[in-house]
Amino acid sequence: MQQDDKRSKTWSGRFTEPVSDLVKRYTASVNFDKRLADVDIQGSLAHAKMLNKVGVLSDADLAAIQKGMAEILANIRNGTFDWSLDLEDVHMNIEARLTALIGDAGKRLHTGRSRNDQVATDVRLWLRGEIDQLIGLLQDAQHSFIDLAEVHAGTIMPGFTHLQVAQPVTFGHHLMAYVEMLSRDEARLVDCRKRVNRLPLGAAALAGTSYPIDREFVAAELGFDGVCGNSLDAVSDRDFAIEFLAAAALTMTHLSRFAEELVLWMSPSFGFITLADRFCTGSSIMPQKKNPDVAELIRGKTGRVDGHLMNLLVLMKGQPLTYNKDNQEDKEPLFDAVDTLRDTLVILADMVPGIHVKSAAMAAAVQKGFATATDLADYLVKKGLPFRDAHEAVARAVKAAETQGVDLAQLSLAEIQSFSPLAGADVFEVLKPEGSVASRNHVGGTAPEQVRAAIERARVRLAG
Ligand code: ARG
Repeated sequence: MQQDDKRSKTWSGRFTEPVSDLVKRYTASVNFDKRLADVDIQGSLAHAKMLNKVGVLSDADLAAIQKGMAEILANIRNGTFDWSLDLEDVHMNIEARLTALIGDAGKRLHTGRSRNDQVATDVRLWLRGEIDQLIGLLQDAQHSFIDLAEVHAGTIMPGFTHLQVAQPVTFGHHLMAYVEMLSRDEARLVDCRKRVNRLPLGAAALAGTSYPIDREFVAAELGFDGVCGNSLDAVSDRDFAIEFLAAAALTMTHLSRFAEELVLWMSPSFGFITLADRFCTGSSIMPQKKNPDVAELIRGKTGRVDGHLMNLLVLMKGQPLTYNKDNQEDKEPLFDAVDTLRDTLVILADMVPGIHVKSAAMAAAVQKGFATATDLADYLVKKGLPFRDAHEAVARAVKAAETQGVDLAQLSLAEIQSFSPLAGADVFEVLKPEGSVASRNHVGGTAPEQVRAAIERARVRLAG
């Protein structure tokens, strides 16, 4: 069959000249949208079944379509399907093959349907499956953080603001912060899924169709929660994909922050952790190097996903109703975002348990940064000093300790009393990091007891 003939079979009966090879490549999507083949066939089968049910398609035609599609699906799965650029996209490739296999019944499949509602249906079906998988992976990632947090519920490290040592926290508490973030990311996906899971089919090209279709039947066949309520909207909007990308970008942003912390913590200047060798590489010139490449790439790949979100927002912003070919450009960003997020979550769930924590280095860093200065101020407040005065007294104590090159806890009682006579011998309790973290014993606080409670809550939530 001539290439131009192939194309003319589908829609170019009114065209007098073929498109150039470049235009063909420029407009074709089959190289990437063949990834939708599975859901495309699922959608077609549900549509055919509905056409048969309402009396538009004969039993014999339906049976032929089902048989033909089974063969096509098998060919696609075993890699023997012959994809053709001339047939533009996944939909026309499959339909043309179906017609080649079963004749006129194949040509009847598209009754009451358009590629516009077909592709919107495909993308939604595909994305729904991916979201379900991603939700599971987000839960796995949370489990890996929780398990490590349990081991380190009492491990003390400096907490930072402005990347300066601020107050002692527990490493378990720090890890559980990410569980909070990832749990919101999970909730966002669950919520987004509700809007993804609506059926566009029946909208046809844009205005609906004159056939006596049963959209609810197709929705039920395909596991959609309901149908899109407006045909013009159904074929044209990609907000469900944009919403997914926003959720994906935010998740990647959270993972990127953690990746950045891993990079910092692994640098000798911090020396808080080492990562398992399987997530690091060496340098071709500096023999001593062990680089946290995987963490760096999590950080780097976040840019891709953020970019994909921007891509689709910009893709959509100037489009008049309804379907425009611009929308064909929704797929590659969406596919890549899903792939990137999936791979990142899989890697992370393996990487977190491989974090080797150097708790002595964490403890030493707490000592160096006057991390218990706030505790001293709070102590003096409890003894009756107004907070602003306590703040000033402690600032002077810190200056003195800094000059001597010692921590607050290493000052003598007499020295501390020279800044505030309210200090007693019990002051040294609050100057210890252990005392500091244990005292923050309320919901959401860093005390080891609270970290264990947070772990318990997270486990119950994830089990439920
Ligand atoms: N490949 C197209 C896409 O992804 C399918 C829909 C094309 N519809 C049309 N009328 N040209 O958007």
